Amino acid sequence: MSILVLHGPNLNLLGQREPGIYGSLTLDAINNLLAATAETLKVKIIPLQSNHEGVLVDAIHQALGEHHGILINAGAYTHTSVAIRDAIAAVNLPTVEVHLSNIYRREEFRHHSYLAPIVVGQISGFGAQSYLLGLQALVNHLQVTSSQK
Ligand code: DQA
Repeated sequence: MSILVLHGPNLNLLGQREPGIYGSLTLDAINNLLAATAETLKVKIIPLQSNHEGVLVDAIHQALGEHHGILINAGAYTHTSVAIRDAIAAVNLPTVEVHLSNIYRREEFRHHSYLAPIVVGQISGFGAQSYLLGLQALVNHLQVTSSQK
């Protein structure tokens, strides 16, 4: 089983970016934790970070036939991008949305997610653990749904 892990804009700066909100782990450290969790779950993860909406849209299109599901922290595009939402809906791959911070405890403009209505579920507010919980939830969802077929 293969999972595409997408990190959106500004997440390349994790570690130095507003550590009081996003924590002190770098993106590489989070990817390493994800790789260790993936190993225990016996799945493969392919991480990609981009600051560009179109690159993320292209990666979602290319996931079709390559990956079984998508784990995404779309960063600020969560709150703005109809294009990323449409791409996920178009490929129809099970997707879990994650956020380091609890977006509902923050500014009002972060309370709306364009992705939430079309993803399997959302995990928000547990720091790097959000990614690990999200990966576990996605793999579990994929296993349950494939055994029902
Ligand atoms: C974020 C929350 C977003 O509102 C913000 O724009 C980010 C990171 C998070 O992981 O908490 O870039 O997705």
